[in-house]
Amino acid sequence: MEKLINVARLAQKNSYSPYSKYRVGAAVLTDDDTIVSGCNVESSSYGLTCCAERVAIYSAIAQGHNKFKALAIITKNGGTPCGACRQVIWDLCGDIPIYIVDEKGKIDETTTKELLPKAFDGSLLK
Ligand code: THU
Repeated sequence: MEKLINVARLAQKNSYSPYSKYRVGAAVLTDDDTIVSGCNVESSSYGLTCCAERVAIYSAIAQGHNKFKALAIITKNGGTPCGACRQVIWDLCGDIPIYIVDEKGKIDETTTKELLPKAFDGSLLK
């Protein structure tokens, strides 16, 4: 968990957030214990921005990983994942531990299910 958070902290430094100035770092732990990180990447057309969580998860998938064990997110004030990211985390990672960290190192440990109760998912499309 400590390592995952440290990798997320390093990724936060790469945040491209000239519009909001809200720097977010994320790191996902795969089933083979690889850690893949992401940061938020903003666009001048705000809606095209991609959150750190999704950058991390999509990068991991692009690198050939498809099972995930944990996710860490770091911001200055311990902000929680947005609704869109909660859905993506549920779809691609399932119910995993999520560590939400602030700049002082305070860790709020939660789970996907806690963040997105009664989730919609692909099982409803069968
Ligand atoms: N952001 C994330 O990276 N993750 C979230 O779950 C919440 C929001 C980013 C998007 C945008 O670059 C900035 O934080 C402010 O919304």
